[in-house]
Amino acid sequence: MSFHILKKEVEHILSRSDKQLNERLTNICELLQSEIDHYDWVGFYFAEHSTKTLHLKAFAGEPTDHTVIPFGKGICGQVAESHKNFVVPDVKSQDNYIACSLNVKAEIVVPLFKDRVNIGQIDIDSHTPDPFTVEDERFLEWINENVAKNI
Ligand code: SME
Repeated sequence: MSFHILKKEVEHILSRSDKQLNERLTNICELLQSEIDHYDWVGFYFAEHSTKTLHLKAFAGEPTDHTVIPFGKGICGQVAESHKNFVVPDVKSQDNYIACSLNVKAEIVVPLFKDRVNIGQIDIDSHTPDPFTVEDERFLEWINENVAKNI
């Protein structure tokens, strides 16, 4: 499925105001994980700024033990502080990395902004080495912008 068609599907999921936000986020994770070959785990973490921690709110793929991540720890925690996309072509090259599964080869984390505040992120793990392009970054930024409109 192309990014163009996936965007239409995401818009449809987000428009389902009869569903709770968490359910819509889970549906987005399931859609991306099932339709994009190199997306093997997809999740949304949201920040609790008072405790400087990220909390997993929705995901698709293998369950993870890392449902709470302190700011600064791992790829996710670094993005909570840098406010910038973090593309990791090879997770083995990262010292500050939290391993969820031995199958994971690459990761991308894109921050989610509401009113210019970094309130969370979308995190993708891939079993394919070096799979992410700028198209993935633009697509995931678009997803986060549209999720933010529904928060
Ligand atoms: N690998 C992430 C932890 C979250 S899992 O990918 C689900 C990290 O280093 O922050």
